[in-house]
Amino acid sequence: MTPKVLGAINRQIVAEFSASYSYLSMAAWCEHHKFTGASRWLRMQSAEEHAHALRLFDFVLARDHKVVLEPVPQPATEFDSIVDVFERALAQERSVSEQIDDIYHLAFQEKVFAAMAELQWFITEQVEEEKTVREIVARFHMVKDDPASLLDLDRELGARQPEPAAG
Ligand SMILES: [Fe+2]
Ligand SMILES: [Fe+2]
Repeated sequence: MTPKVLGAINRQIVAEFSASYSYLSMAAWCEHHKFTGASRWLRMQSAEEHAHALRLFDFVLARDHKVVLEPVPQPATEFDSIVDVFERALAQERSVSEQIDDIYHLAFQEKVFAAMAELQWFITEQVEEEKTVREIVARFHMVKDDPASLLDLDRELGARQPEPAAG
């Protein structure tokens, strides 16, 4: 591993913890506003981001390098609406996808093939996460302010099952 790639991966560990923290803050807002299904969904997503951070953490250690954990920024705590929550989640996923692409590009330039293999998993994961959140945003736009439909959608989000731990 080169110092540049190591630095980028260490920063990505913090970015994943930051995403986890941000989803947790969104979960708190939703719970407070009685969207308990959405809150459950977001809490689960927070746990997934935590697992992503640990995946990179373990990768750095497996390559016999040092993990450097930097401070995690404070996430947003105020949202305009439930749609706003998921729109911001989508923006967050898009920016994470770009970050992953950038690190992959860097690993390619520096010929760190093990990092490229590890990052491949993240590239695939980002495609899935962006798609999922984009669909949720679209559905919130469809139901608009219709209370019965909003409750249905919230209930549906609450039915999310935890994914089996990714190998
Ligand atoms: Fe992630
Ligand atoms: Fe994500």
